[in-house]
Amino acid sequence: MARRPLVAGNWKMNGLKASAAELTKIVAGASSLPNADFLICPPATLVAQFAALAKGSRVAIGGQDCRAEPSGAFTGDIAAEMLKDAGASAVIVGHSERRRYHGETDAAVRAKAQAARRAGLLAVVCVGESRAERDAGQALAAVGKQLDGSLPDGETDCVVAYEPVWAIGTGVTPTQDDVIAMHGFIRERLVARGVASGQGVRILYGGSVKPANARELLTAANVDGALIGGASLKADDFLAIAAVYR
Ligand code: 13P
Repeated sequence: MARRPLVAGNWKMNGLKASAAELTKIVAGASSLPNADFLICPPATLVAQFAALAKGSRVAIGGQDCRAEPSGAFTGDIAAEMLKDAGASAVIVGHSERRRYHGETDAAVRAKAQAARRAGLLAVVCVGESRAERDAGQALAAVGKQLDGSLPDGETDCVVAYEPVWAIGTGVTPTQDDVIAMHGFIRERLVARGVASGQGVRILYGGSVKPANARELLTAANVDGALIGGASLKADDFLAIAAVYR
């Protein structure tokens, strides 16, 4: 099944109003790359500004997290509905940094993915094993467990991002064979869950994607795009990665 690639940038806790200059460059570059979809997830403070800037372009804007509830006494948290209201069309949920620094469980991630659907946002659900799990030969089992616990039942319209924790921000990446094995496993699991369109769900690879390794990582079977951290902060690098889909 043909799946349209998605090239997504997770800016994490980086970016000020002046960073709009990079977004403007990304918007311009994306217009000449018609074979992929684009998503930039800036910090929440920039979502409205970026959404206004990217309006009508090929670049969608997303949040990096949301709370499951639509509103209420949850100081400092942001609802999926608020991101939608600010102009977002997607939200990352279950990033390993949220799981690690905020103790998010699979059940919490699933509730956030459900909130995204409720608000009309595309959920980008992140999974990935730790170094210890990979070294113990438990990478597939760990990711399978996260998938089962984090994806809402019957979810058909989400994106899964495979981000091995040990590859994030380290410059270290899995081999192409490891990526093929993991993405094939995730695909099988999606189909086996009875997700009717399991074949249609895009599975992104994330973790130290750079212009130099993009082709090897992104042309592997069942890799339908990238979730890019550090390299997405520079428009030139982000677009050089996306050029794999030229
Ligand atoms: P890096 O590309 O900086 O390794 O980050 C990956 C990531 O966590 C994207 O969500």
